[in-house]
Amino acid sequence: MQKKIPFNSDWLFKPCFDERDRQAAPREEEFERVDLPHTNKMLPYNYMDERDYQFVSCYAKWFELPHSAAGQDVFLDFEGVMLVARVYCNGCFVCEHLGGYTPFSARLTGVVKPGQQNWVVVEVDSTERPDIPPFGKTVDYLTYGGIYREVQLRFADTTRLEQVRLFSPDCMAERKTLRAECKVLARQACEATLLLRLHHKNGSASETRQIVLLPQGASTWPLALEKLADIELWQPDNPTLYQVEVELQAAEQTDLEVLRFGFRECRFTAEGFLLNGRLVRLLGLNRHQSFPYVGYAMPKRVQRRDAELLKNEAGINLVRCSHYPQSRHFLDRCDELGLMVIEEITGWQHIGDESWKQNSLCELEELIQRDINRPSVILWGVRINESQDDHDFYTRTNRLAHALDPTRQTGGTRYIRHSELLEDVYTYNDFSYDGGELVFRPQRESTGLENQVPTLVTESMGHMFPVKQCDNESRLAEHALRHLRVIDETLGRADLAGGVSWCAFDYNSHGSFGSGDKVCYHGVYDMFRNPKYAAAAYASQKPPKEGLVLTPITRGARGERDGCGMVPFTVLTNCDFVRVYKNGALVGDFYPDGTGYPHLPHPPVTVSHLLEAALPFGFSDEDTQAYRAFVAKQCPDGNLLYMGETECAYLKGLAERYSLQFIGLFGATIRMAGGWGEAEIELVLEGWLDGQLVRRLVMSEGESSAGLRLLPDDTALTLSGDTYDATRVVVQAVDERGNPRPYSQDCVEITVEGPAQLMGPARLPLWGGCGAVWVRTIGQAGTVQLRAEGLYHQTECIIEVE
Ligand code: GAL
Repeated sequence: MQKKIPFNSDWLFKPCFDERDRQAAPREEEFERVDLPHTNKMLPYNYMDERDYQFVSCYAKWFELPHSAAGQDVFLDFEGVMLVARVYCNGCFVCEHLGGYTPFSARLTGVVKPGQQNWVVVEVDSTERPDIPPFGKTVDYLTYGGIYREVQLRFADTTRLEQVRLFSPDCMAERKTLRAECKVLARQACEATLLLRLHHKNGSASETRQIVLLPQGASTWPLALEKLADIELWQPDNPTLYQVEVELQAAEQTDLEVLRFGFRECRFTAEGFLLNGRLVRLLGLNRHQSFPYVGYAMPKRVQRRDAELLKNEAGINLVRCSHYPQSRHFLDRCDELGLMVIEEITGWQHIGDESWKQNSLCELEELIQRDINRPSVILWGVRINESQDDHDFYTRTNRLAHALDPTRQTGGTRYIRHSELLEDVYTYNDFSYDGGELVFRPQRESTGLENQVPTLVTESMGHMFPVKQCDNESRLAEHALRHLRVIDETLGRADLAGGVSWCAFDYNSHGSFGSGDKVCYHGVYDMFRNPKYAAAAYASQKPPKEGLVLTPITRGARGERDGCGMVPFTVLTNCDFVRVYKNGALVGDFYPDGTGYPHLPHPPVTVSHLLEAALPFGFSDEDTQAYRAFVAKQCPDGNLLYMGETECAYLKGLAERYSLQFIGLFGATIRMAGGWGEAEIELVLEGWLDGQLVRRLVMSEGESSAGLRLLPDDTALTLSGDTYDATRVVVQAVDERGNPRPYSQDCVEITVEGPAQLMGPARLPLWGGCGAVWVRTIGQAGTVQLRAEGLYHQTECIIEVE
């Protein structure tokens, strides 16, 4: 039986490597002690020098191997080392792995000594080596360095299960089949039993067994469970996963592999994307797996949280893992949540020479091998993102992907038009939208093909409209409206399977991209995973039962805008309508704009004026109506203050008719409609759904900063995982009602008391009124008290480590 032991704590690390490290036992005094995932260099949030992490470092670890491991194969399984790893054990070279995003196993058999102290050394080259994807040219992301994913120690019998592939060829049938392809390794030819078991939801199990004559070496055996009844399909709103076991029973050696499987059938067609026979519109965001300070080195819970945020909060159904294989933990959560995934090989625009291509093919194989059993993965991206056509290379990547996985289609992202279609799906980036009329080109303009083919837009927005969390209202609001327009187009275009926008989270990049501070502010969330308004453009499209959204995309202050007005403003919501009160008086009900956004399930609501429902002027019904229409016409341009002669003449006439002073009516009109001056405005927005008041939000111009808030994603962390645990804690400046204070200039210092540690600096400025820190466990249980101290306020929160 294979035994797997987490191998993540008590590593030794030094930021250099010399010849001696290959042969000699590590001298502890030269190293610092670290846990995995580990980044070779902590970086500042921005303005970092990316050369700081591009060096060769040394990781070492002492370990004892039990006597029982004698006669077994011993492996170290690495999940991800950036960028090249050379593994040595007890002074002997074991293996080299090129590429930072896929797993590999170092076979230590023969060089490790059971029953004794052993040491392993990993030489980690984190430089941008031009022979390995994505490098050769500058890429728009950073790759960081170190052993940034987990490692396990594994002892395996010499007769064992090497790999199990699961698939169901007839998911849509009433009674389904589960097939397993079991790759077995045998030390010598022998008879064995192979067993396939599926656990049903009602607690029962279906099982089949087969006696096989294993030849010496590797062989592959098919097993099948047929006519399985009452199997639930895996789908986004009900992502049913089944536990499947494969057992090998040979004379003295047995092995067991426990897997998860989802029954589902997916297919991109010229008419759209079919999931389990139903047309599903794909709406997604691209994800980079990077975080502030630690780069890629985040543990399980934090990786999983990204998937939760995208599926549960943003409400999208697809994520593209741009532009490389991402964390297994993130993908596990996608499987569990029903968040569909596009995975792709590493790269960015550049294709290298033949050995570079070999490395890429090798990565593709490792990627497919790792993730073939995931129901969430609906497409293999087999092109280097946005590269030029390369007939031979892409014929090879396609052939390899299809050979390894005949069940999934391939795609490959290009930006060039009329690119050669060697894949099953024409996936392409369309950055046409610049706020004008055109959102996405007609399919044929992109493909250059006569006939309609399966297509998916894999990127839009991004560099076309970068936005920082601390930008002013109009830019953040325009960003949200542009995403909304893209979503509308994505959902409405019959010639597309859907669209994936750029991107989920702001990310660090090289200086030739981004805002001059090595950050691309392209996210609908910032790098701390705090939402910009644009996140609500996605979230508000969710069915209300998946989470109510009522997000006004305004600071709610007259002086923020050019021209000093408050209206019109947009409310992103999945409520039926929004009722507005101003300073206690009812303004009216505002409804979604289905005309402007015909394809959105929940179009935005425009609050076009702030005139009270009951006007205090004594106008007749007719004049009231005309006056309202007049104000409504003035408001959309925000030009209340700038009334011309015609407008003034209208107001003068009205004033005369009702014996009012023109100047008084003029001023009242401006103020009542939400224009400049006098008393502070307090707005109440109510979200109504099915005749019920379901959300209420109060915003007031006059609010002072009332304090800070610490919001941990989790209030309990565990010591029982394979390595340290961590969670994010959001820091916010808020007013008395708990509304964010986006222009708070606070600078916060975080202190931690108890068994935990910050994963980054202890001081941070609040940008757009918010920020976040990540806190990790340090191997002891207890209560952790986190305190945030700003210039004027302080607050605390508690996290239990159990
Ligand atoms: C695309 C590219 C992405 C990112 C994006 C920025 O061309 O594929 O990686 O750079 O532009 O908008």
